[in-house]
Amino acid sequence: MTTTRTRVAIIGAGPSGLLLGALLHKADIDHVIIERQSPDYVLGRIRAGILEQVTVDLLHEAGVGQGVESGGTVHHSIELVFKNTRHPIDVTGLTKGKVVTAYGQTEVTRDLMAQRSQLNLPTVYEAADVQLHDFDGHQPSVSYTKDGVNHRLHCDFIAGCDGFHGVARASVPKDAITEYEKVYPFAWLGVLADVPPVSSHAIVYANSERGFALCSMRSMTRSRYYVQCPSSDKVEDWSDQRFWDEVRRRLDPELADRMQTGPSIEKSMAPLRSFVAEPMRFGRLFLAGDAAHIVPPTGAKGLNLAASDVKYLSSALIEHYKEKSDAGIDHYSQRALARIWRAERFSWWLTTLMHQFPESGAFGQRMQEAELDYLVRSQALSTSLAENYVGLPLDFG
Ligand code: APR
Ligand code: PHB
Repeated sequence: MTTTRTRVAIIGAGPSGLLLGALLHKADIDHVIIERQSPDYVLGRIRAGILEQVTVDLLHEAGVGQGVESGGTVHHSIELVFKNTRHPIDVTGLTKGKVVTAYGQTEVTRDLMAQRSQLNLPTVYEAADVQLHDFDGHQPSVSYTKDGVNHRLHCDFIAGCDGFHGVARASVPKDAITEYEKVYPFAWLGVLADVPPVSSHAIVYANSERGFALCSMRSMTRSRYYVQCPSSDKVEDWSDQRFWDEVRRRLDPELADRMQTGPSIEKSMAPLRSFVAEPMRFGRLFLAGDAAHIVPPTGAKGLNLAASDVKYLSSALIEHYKEKSDAGIDHYSQRALARIWRAERFSWWLTTLMHQFPESGAFGQRMQEAELDYLVRSQALSTSLAENYVGLPLDFG
């Protein structure tokens, strides 16, 4: 058994853990990241790719802004399709100049990993049997096994950045945590393909009687598309041809005609869930990112929420070490949750507006169309969509 010490033990090397590590490093706070999987496995996961300005700013602050600067595509609008007709929403015009940037989570993760290895920052990959100890007291530690050897890492604080299925939230006594959850009765089937995006200036969100479809991008030569499908479907049920045909049927005729298709380079199913765990601090353990909350992917808030949690948490830890104040630590959970619930509301609303719900039938479809008709004509409703899409300010109150 080896024994080492650090200030902050970070569990999980997804975007939350890596970004927290980068921000702590900038402030000269030592930390170690402990990750269950290999680097390739972490990079193999394809997730959403729309960054709020707050997230882009944070990547710059963390010293990894070049990737998004050179590889990201700025979007000023979104396109809503319903009743076979496309309607642009002028997001920038409605938000006094704000934008979002299309840049994949995989790319964000790769940039953070590259910086970490360049700076030689400690990351333990393929750590087995990770366990958290004594976070309720003054001397927390994390134990794990690597290549058959047992290790114990003593620390001041533990950051649980280990995603929805991680060990951190599961280590909290059941009576100390409240979980709120909604599981949606359908899934998304996603395809990545090396074809130019059908719409490179805006994400397309399509409501149709056949279900939801989304057209997104990773670059000018790589696209990401999704269709709503039954949760019971399997990836094998969907040939590339069936997938592209289905996307086409859910779009307006002009986009359907313009869309270029090609062989999928990745195809995966994702369930849709809304989930929040409260609080996000338990003594010397903090939860951040998917460890504490999940949003359905409609609106692409998952990564952006992870980034804002990490901003609040890194500021709190920096305040603790540099200013000897625990005010940030004491307020972390409340601050983070205020922003999380707003993003939960937005993601739930957009999901509910755009998808077919088996139990709502034709009446539900008409209600969605009436709301969408109203939305595209009402400055008030369009502004609400736009200001949530670009992301609410970090200090919204
Ligand atoms: N021990 C160590 N690491 C673990 C453990 C464990 N017991 N369990 C999980 N992990 C690792 C996972 O392998 C993963 O690499 O924690 C990491 C968590 O990463 P993510 O799931 O990507 O979560 P997070 O970093 O919070 O990123 C949130 O991911 O799911 C999307 O929409 C979400 O974009 C958002 C982002
Ligand atoms: C994506 O690019 O994967 C994406 C974009 C916008 C969303 C969801 C996913 O709302």
